[in-house]
Amino acid sequence: MKTMNKTNTGFQIDIRKCFRQFIMLITGLLLIGKLSLQAQDGEAIFKQNCSVCHKIGGGRLIGPDLAGITSKRSIEWLLKWTKASQALVKSGDAEAKAIFDEYKVIMPDQNLPDAELRAVYAFIDSKSADVATSAESSSTTEVVADASNQATQEQISNGKRLFTGAQGLINGGPACISCHNVNYKGVIPGGLLAKDLTDVYSRLGGDIGLHGIMGAPPFPAMTQSYLNKPITENEIADITAFLNRVDKDKTSQQASMMNPLLYGGSAGIIALLILIYILWSSRKRFTVKREIYNRQIRSI
Ligand code: HEC
Ligand code: HEC
Repeated sequence: MKTMNKTNTGFQIDIRKCFRQFIMLITGLLLIGKLSLQAQDGEAIFKQNCSVCHKIGGGRLIGPDLAGITSKRSIEWLLKWTKASQALVKSGDAEAKAIFDEYKVIMPDQNLPDAELRAVYAFIDSKSADVATSAESSSTTEVVADASNQATQEQISNGKRLFTGAQGLINGGPACISCHNVNYKGVIPGGLLAKDLTDVYSRLGGDIGLHGIMGAPPFPAMTQSYLNKPITENEIADITAFLNRVDKDKTSQQASMMNPLLYGGSAGIIALLILIYILWSSRKRFTVKREIYNRQIRSI
């Protein structure tokens, strides 16, 4: 009995010691983890949620260059803006209104927790310092911006087939037309789930904007669709070339859209006139016969 008690207490002391050490270890790990994750997280979150539309140094994409933004605006303003930019614009905030008036593209609300947004701005802040010291170069921007203007007819029609699903995407993602419409000759009306893309090429910053969106779609419904089925570089280039053409051809499409409507309209009116004529004349014949018949009946 005595020996058993002894081993018992020895065992309890060990557990307590272990437990204390364990707690200290965990707390330490959490602290270290939190500090180092902060900076890494900021970069990862920026890449995933913002880099499609924003660069930090090197010029504008769909949205403005964010280099130095943390010294231009307060963190409170930045958090409000990022979570609901239109609410801020509508609240009459002069800075918000000025920036929206300049770009006229609604930035999608970023529903991220404050802690993550702070991490993003901490990253932007540290990156801005690097940018300030290194020389600016935006020549790459110009080169990519022009790429689809030089697209071959083959690329454009390939892009059209990919957009409409006549040809499947290599990695099996859904065709754009299942959610988006474009107003273009030979393309059947597309889905209404998402915006019409007829003028998206000029609206969202040409090649760079579209490459960004297709490379890492920042819109939840679209992100999900291409999560494990990325659109390949070649496919992106071809679809961009097609959307560039659609945008440039806007006026001619309107004409080609009008014609079927016009023909459809006049054919309809002619058919209606014929129908009215048939109904009217048969009705008249019927009444005339009836009158004569009645008269004859009466005269007998
Ligand atoms: C789909 C494109 C898009 C995405 C994604 C996007 N933005 Fe924007 N952002 C814009 C546009 C466009 C503007 C210009 C203002 C406007 O038109 O409303 C803007 C403006 C801003 C501004 C204001 C700049 C200034 O001069 O005050 C900040 C700050 C900003 N974005 C931060 C972010 C952050 C941070 C993220 C990611 C968490 C992000 N944006 C994601 C398009 C985007
Ligand atoms: C499952 C549905 C879905 C599919 C498939 C899809 N998208 Fe989207 N897309 C969306 C949604 C949702 C949005 C964001 C909200 C909106 O524009 O209405 C969006 C937005 C966009 C935008 C920005 C539109 C704008 O005016 O702000 C572009 C460009 C775009 N998609 C291109 C494409 C292309 C190109 C394809 C085919 C490779 C494609 N999408 C396939 C759902 C989809």
